[in-house]
Amino acid sequence: MKANDGIKTEGPKYRSSDRVRADRTDLLYKDIPEGGTLMSIKDLRVVYQTDDSEMVAVDNFSLDVKKGELVSIIGPSGCGKTTILRCIAGLLQPTSGTISMGGKPCTAPGSDRGMVFQDFALFPWRSVKQNVEFGMEVAGVPKEEREERAMRYIQAVGLGDFADSRIHELSGGMKQRVGIARALVMHPAVTLMDEPFGALDAQTRNIMQEQLTRIIMHSERTVIFITHSVDEALYLSDRVVILTKRPSTVYKVIDVPWNRPRDRACPEFTKLRRDILDFLESQNVMSNDSGTMTKKPEKHLGDMFRSKE
Ligand SMILES: Nc1ncnc2c1ncn2[C@@H]1O[C@H](COP(=O)(O)OP(=O)(O)OP(=O)(O)O)[C@@H](O)[C@H]1O
Ligand SMILES: [Mg+2]
Repeated sequence: MKANDGIKTEGPKYRSSDRVRADRTDLLYKDIPEGGTLMSIKDLRVVYQTDDSEMVAVDNFSLDVKKGELVSIIGPSGCGKTTILRCIAGLLQPTSGTISMGGKPCTAPGSDRGMVFQDFALFPWRSVKQNVEFGMEVAGVPKEEREERAMRYIQAVGLGDFADSRIHELSGGMKQRVGIARALVMHPAVTLMDEPFGALDAQTRNIMQEQLTRIIMHSERTVIFITHSVDEALYLSDRVVILTKRPSTVYKVIDVPWNRPRDRACPEFTKLRRDILDFLESQNVMSNDSGTMTKKPEKHLGDMFRSKE
């Protein structure tokens, strides 16, 4: 475990003999080497029941998540990305299929999976700092350490001047940054991020992407990241999982071969982004109403795609 997570830190030193703390669930899986399988999702299927019908949102979704990687999930709007993340978080029971971490089934929410929600899900009656401190309060972290850690992450997301503000006083982008600080401060074994930068303006979004890149480069963070932005996925990820239109299933897994920080302007980046965009566009125009994908010839999806399947 590296002591620094890309944000200036003088936090407590954890030795392997220490008891795992509820606010440091990354330590629960310290025996899994970086690059080893941390989470395994097999044959996930989610069927939503409505009044008079049922709708298959996710079908046959399988993915192994490696320790220390950032894996992005990208797919057409409404294809089932949030549904998959909610299953991983234990907030939704899949109709069938399994999710496990370190070989143990994940069937309920747990602090080893920290979630940044698409719709913020903050406590409106608490200040920014109190929101970020919440998980640490529950875990029994002493007040002084709690405040120091909360302030470090609040500053990292650029909200140092708003620590005592109420949630209703913030813009959408600021709220999302509170949600990000709240998740990261807990050092979950896996951080689940549902379009965390979607509500941010372009400039703040770039700053947040760079900040996340720094955190990834200097720590063993494992992140599952949902985004609509191909550019963002390629900038941040070790792997990009491309989903089909609903019911979502894995279409391709792409290894992103470039070191960080990345150059968005380089020809390889631009080419791969274009290829993925072409595929996603084909998903919106080439699917019939039942959500069954009509396969388009893969003329754009040539060499750059290195499927894992
Ligand atoms: N609780 C629910 N009950 C019934 N249908 C639902 C429920 N939640 C989601 N759905 C449906 O499941 C499908 C997938 O929804 P989901 O929110 O997972 O998509 P998404 O890929 O995250 O979309 P977006 O990119 O717009 O965020 C959608 O058609 C949605 O209407
Ligand atoms: Mg969603």
